[in-house]
Amino acid sequence: MTAGGPEREAASSQERFAEVAAAYRRSPFHQDPVALEAFLAVAELAPPHRVLDVATGAGHVAVAAAPRVATVVGVDITEQMLEQARDLAAEREVRNVEFVPGDAERLPFPDQSFDRVLVRAAPHHFRNLARACAESFRVLRPGGVFAVCDTSPPPIVRDWLEYVEVRRDPSHVRARVLEEWRALLTAIGFAVEHAERVEQEWDVLAWFGLMRVPEPVVRELLDYYDTAPQAVRGAILPQWREDRFYHRYWHATVRARRPLPGGR
Ligand SMILES: C[S@@+](CC[C@H](N)C(=O)[O-])C[C@H]1O[C@@H](n2cnc3c(N)ncnc32)[C@H](O)[C@@H]1O
Repeated sequence: MTAGGPEREAASSQERFAEVAAAYRRSPFHQDPVALEAFLAVAELAPPHRVLDVATGAGHVAVAAAPRVATVVGVDITEQMLEQARDLAAEREVRNVEFVPGDAERLPFPDQSFDRVLVRAAPHHFRNLARACAESFRVLRPGGVFAVCDTSPPPIVRDWLEYVEVRRDPSHVRARVLEEWRALLTAIGFAVEHAERVEQEWDVLAWFGLMRVPEPVVRELLDYYDTAPQAVRGAILPQWREDRFYHRYWHATVRARRPLPGGR
């Protein structure tokens, strides 16, 4: 089984997310206020800040950040997701946010134009993550913060779980473990101030449902869980409760600062 191999050509995020945009707007995980609060705390937002939310999706992070800062721009490659984001902002009567089309790997903004760059639940879709992170560095002012939250299992699980990720969503490119995040951001020039792997219980069938995984693929993946190596089972702790299937899942939360001149 090689679906998760890095040599694989990922499907287009635009095609996948165009089909499921409305479901993402209603996704309990993406709109969870506790998770949003925790992520925004890592970003250390302040009222004067101009904020960029990369791969904004249905705009949950951008809309949650907006009341705490001066302005927010949400950028995404999928027009149907941007439409959901604009509707969400209108529904919540949030007026200091705009949503624009663009690619994380070629951000359509001048150098040093934001105080904060946020990206949640999207870097695993980027074909060239290093380029996307370098773009975030470029558009941040010196002293500004890049805040990341993305799927990030421990090393013992990552390659095994990649198969599930790719079968669930062929536009998944690769989840990075925490150590890879640190190395990547440091190599670009960021000072990594905070890097944490946060564990949670994952409602697997709801997660498959969000991407409308076809029933035969769901069955195939449940068989794959049944045959997981002991070390993987010990880490993910798969279990059925009534008719729901759960296991552990992890996100990395990272705060990285673009240093001021002189390295401060
Ligand atoms: C899971 S959704 C993001 C959700 C959102 N950031 C949140 O936390 O609520 C992933 C998003 O990444 C976008 N995306 C994927 N590749 C991208 C790229 N290269 N540039 C910009 N957006 C991209 C997709 O269109 C999709 O809207």
